[in-house]
Amino acid sequence: MTEEPRLLAILGHRGRDAKTCLYRCGNACDHPAPNESANPYLGDVINTALTRRGVVRAGAVGALVLGFGATATATASAPAAAEPAAGSTAQAVLREPAADRAGALTFKPIPPNELDSLIVPNGYDSAVVIRWGDPILPGVPGLDVRHQTAQRQSAQFGYNNDFLGVLPLGRDGRRALLVANHEYTNEELMFPGFTSQEALTVEQVKVAMAAHGMSVVELERVGGTGQWRPVGGRLRPYNRRITMLETPFRFTGPAAGSAWLRTAADPKGTTPIGTLNNCSGGVTPWGTVLSGEENFNQYFVGGDAAPAELKPRLARYGISTTVRVPAGSRRWERAQERFDLALHPNEAHRFGWIVEVDPYEPGSRPRKHTAMGRFKHEGANVIVARNGRVVAYMGDDERFDYLYKFVSDREFRPGDSAAARRHNLTLLESGTLYVAKVTGDSPAAEIDGSGKLPSDGAFDGTGRWIKLVSGERSYVPGMSAVEVLTFTRLAGDAVGATKMDRPEDVQPSLLTGKVYAAMTNNTNRGVGTFAAADEANPRNANKHGHIFELVEDRGDNTAESFTWSLPIVCGDPADPSTYFAGYDKSAVSPISCPDNVAFDSAGNLWISTDGNQLDSNDGLFATAIEGSERGHLKQFLTVPPGAETCGPFVTGDDRSVFVAVQHPGEITGATLDDPASTWPDGDFAKPAVVVTWRLDGGPIGS
Ligand code: FEO
Ligand code: CA
Ligand code: CA
Repeated sequence: MTEEPRLLAILGHRGRDAKTCLYRCGNACDHPAPNESANPYLGDVINTALTRRGVVRAGAVGALVLGFGATATATASAPAAAEPAAGSTAQAVLREPAADRAGALTFKPIPPNELDSLIVPNGYDSAVVIRWGDPILPGVPGLDVRHQTAQRQSAQFGYNNDFLGVLPLGRDGRRALLVANHEYTNEELMFPGFTSQEALTVEQVKVAMAAHGMSVVELERVGGTGQWRPVGGRLRPYNRRITMLETPFRFTGPAAGSAWLRTAADPKGTTPIGTLNNCSGGVTPWGTVLSGEENFNQYFVGGDAAPAELKPRLARYGISTTVRVPAGSRRWERAQERFDLALHPNEAHRFGWIVEVDPYEPGSRPRKHTAMGRFKHEGANVIVARNGRVVAYMGDDERFDYLYKFVSDREFRPGDSAAARRHNLTLLESGTLYVAKVTGDSPAAEIDGSGKLPSDGAFDGTGRWIKLVSGERSYVPGMSAVEVLTFTRLAGDAVGATKMDRPEDVQPSLLTGKVYAAMTNNTNRGVGTFAAADEANPRNANKHGHIFELVEDRGDNTAESFTWSLPIVCGDPADPSTYFAGYDKSAVSPISCPDNVAFDSAGNLWISTDGNQLDSNDGLFATAIEGSERGHLKQFLTVPPGAETCGPFVTGDDRSVFVAVQHPGEITGATLDDPASTWPDGDFAKPAVVVTWRLDGGPIGS
């Protein structure tokens, strides 16, 4: 329901909580950054002079977006599995900018707050779509935390929803498929009487494994509004759970079946079980969902007893090679032996991939694409380049890790024939993987780590995409193609990729082809022996993060060179180290720790946050990114305490914005029995998906 924002400080804990650090990334901040390579930093890189350019108009197939209802003009159809296929489509729509609305974000921003509620601007409403434990498969009861079982959880909506995709179902704009990631679990907020991971029963460990993975849920529009809800009442043929417990995947690409991926349970190295720590993702123009396997390291024990030659490869991914049970371990080896690397050292290599799920084919086996490399994948977002090849942009979310892109060998085939879709489903199985090397155009002496703009008035410069591997050919000396793909971080080290401040979501605008990456933060930047600020990561002890804008040379998303700038350097606008594209700072909202990005049909940039360091709950923001309103950032929404704001997803008709409220109440000391948040139902905290819409039915934001 809509609430007037009330500025009440209801809880003492603020920002990224210690509990979040433990569960989300295995206390990564307490450990050395795994990148110990001696790569040159930005200032060392040759500055190739490139011309800065303005708006790039995407070519004929360069602007694809999923649309709804009447906006759909071109479709890539997928046959429905168990229900008549009439009009069931993934709509790849050539999108023209809504010129009349471009940049017109007229909502009144909400103020920062710490309310245990979901807050939206006046004139908007919000509702929970689905929450942890809601049944999505038949024959399972709703959530009962005192009698939860792995079998029940495998048929219920999972925990800690992160990425959201909302794909049209049918052509009338009334039904859709929600696809959600379930990144990790908070056992202390799930089980009554929780004391420690070690004290969990094996069945409870299996519940946690079943609560990881992904969900597909059929939705229906509520009346003619922007509200959506699950379709209930009978078997929904598209509804699906993908779990860590038992769902088989298939490896594709050059590393499939390689020796690095073979285990006792899978001697062919082709069929991993489950997907792990799925963070963000993307929706492809052919109507599938990509999902990034991120902090998989925290689920393994026994790295101390792994073969000596493997230890550097494990350590580069944050897996302890000195301690049998690292602090914060999930202890999943008690339920499934494969998580003990002393026994199954290759099991860890079967995670850290981009997975692709076809929600229109509920019986299809999801795939892990080795051609897209292996790192702590935040997600992947695809655009069709002018030459028809598809380009996926990806971030490796770790302090001092890298930006990547993948270019397919084959070209996207438009149209809604079954043959076209079959073809497009293969696009991510072969191609070329690049890593970014970035340089600034200002003298290094002008980048003093304070955030002060250099004398040319901008943090900006040029960059190159360094080819790592193309098909079965490696471009990295001393590494085979399979090694480059399986140990991609080491390949990035070897070629001198640029160390960034935690690259999270990386997404191209389908209107302009420009690419936007959220650099969440890096409090180690410039601290002690850690690398100092550079023009692309210009603040030491960077606690608030920034947005990186990348413009491919010639407007060609397959280009091997680009220009870049930082349109937003986050924080309190009163802080002189912040920058909002030169916009009047008195008119912008404070923002901290950008994580996920999205676009509406007018091309406005939506940014969600994780770990706000400005004494407010996390939230969702929007700004125009072209024209005179560029940098006019306004806060649209806040989530309850302890939660991060995920998703977000703006539907193609601009009438609904979905967000995933992940880990509400995740605050040190809080438990299920003594919760720090009771959102959304008033009893205890539950991760949930929320939809917001405009009460008068108009487009969101404008
Ligand atoms: Fe799962 Fe990079 O946040
Ligand atoms: Ca500059
Ligand atoms: Ca994230």
